[in-house]
Amino acid sequence: MLLKGKHIVLGVTGSIAAYKIASLASMLVKKQADVTVIMTKNATNFINPITFEALTGNKCLVDTFDRNFQFHVEHVALAKLADVFLVAPASANVIAKAACGLADDMLTTTLLACRCPKIFAPAMNTRMYENPIVQDNIKRLRGYGMEIVDAAEGYLACGDTGAGKMPEPEVLFEAVIKALTPKDMSGKKVLVTAGPTREKMDPVRFISNHSTGKMGYAVARAAMMRGADVTLVSGVTTLQPPAGVKTVPVVSAADMASAVKGEADAQDIVVMTAAVADYRPAVTADEKIKKKDGELSVELERTEDILAWLGANRREGQVLCGFSMETEHLMENSRAKLEKKNIDMIVANNLRQEGAGFGTDTNVVTFLAKDETVELPLLSKEEVADRLFDFILEREKNRTK
Ligand code: CTP
Repeated sequence: MLLKGKHIVLGVTGSIAAYKIASLASMLVKKQADVTVIMTKNATNFINPITFEALTGNKCLVDTFDRNFQFHVEHVALAKLADVFLVAPASANVIAKAACGLADDMLTTTLLACRCPKIFAPAMNTRMYENPIVQDNIKRLRGYGMEIVDAAEGYLACGDTGAGKMPEPEVLFEAVIKALTPKDMSGKKVLVTAGPTREKMDPVRFISNHSTGKMGYAVARAAMMRGADVTLVSGVTTLQPPAGVKTVPVVSAADMASAVKGEADAQDIVVMTAAVADYRPAVTADEKIKKKDGELSVELERTEDILAWLGANRREGQVLCGFSMETEHLMENSRAKLEKKNIDMIVANNLRQEGAGFGTDTNVVTFLAKDETVELPLLSKEEVADRLFDFILEREKNRTK
């Protein structure tokens, strides 16, 4: 998602984690956002405002009565401009002030004048974070509709280990994107499968495929950003599950089948991006298979087709979407799967096409429904995921017209 035309205000308070906001500001600017940083006086002890000015190209604001500024009546003008306001790191002090509506500096005055989504990322020592007063203040902010990015656990600057660590800039970046994304899927339950399955031969070997899970994780993330309640059933990958998504880790096709069956009935939309193994070793050896002279043959048996099971057991109104990866006869083969598995649509891609396939950040796909075909150009997997839900929602709207 490009952030062109979006104005993001970052409120930085006095915590050692303030330095991490430089990297967040840079990530947002790279996505073409217009970023203004407001610092409390204490924050300037940890990081110099010039750092933020260099990164954002905008003046970094500290004092409410700075005459030398681009906006007229600064805090109000900036508040009107803001599309999202993130306070990070948020000290116990700024949380308390915000919870009471106090406005005694540039950060808190602007915050009070803002009507856009507001996010807080608390950062402090565990003893302060766990203090019931701080927790009550956080609860109050939530009650006012503000988003809280929960503090992480870890090694803190004071030498203690515990809760109170500000999450990494990547997590804050995701929170900003979520705040900016229209919630056109809220109330919907979405199940996504992703990654490869592993079919065990013996205690040291398995049969699998090249799937990395990138496409499925992008699909789960897109639905979550748009407000859906998302469950991600994932084979073994190296990816970090998107925050705010319920992730169910599985290993084999049989594990995936039972996880999906357990969740299926409650879902409005199911997207099967997983590269489920079609075959598994008929026998799993208890001990390591030792090499011998001559060839070795392994007998394989079929795994259950999860998508076909979903098609046969679907709930009224449920949308089922499969993925189809081919090296030839893409359309004929994909259309055949659509019919055979009794599903609503399939996302077809050709492994041989440049920019499509395993492990890439891009994909070239065609959406295939019984009565509609949409060919998409080369897009990032994030964009493909968004287009997929646009397609599903649009078809749903036309059906209920
Ligand atoms: N799928 C599934 N269960 C399986 C195998 C595949 O649910 N045991 C799903 C995949 O997640 C994907 C779709 O079915 O959404 C792919 O269809 P499939 O016919 O299995 O594709 P291929 O294995 O590529 O087909 P073929 O072997 O016929 O080329």
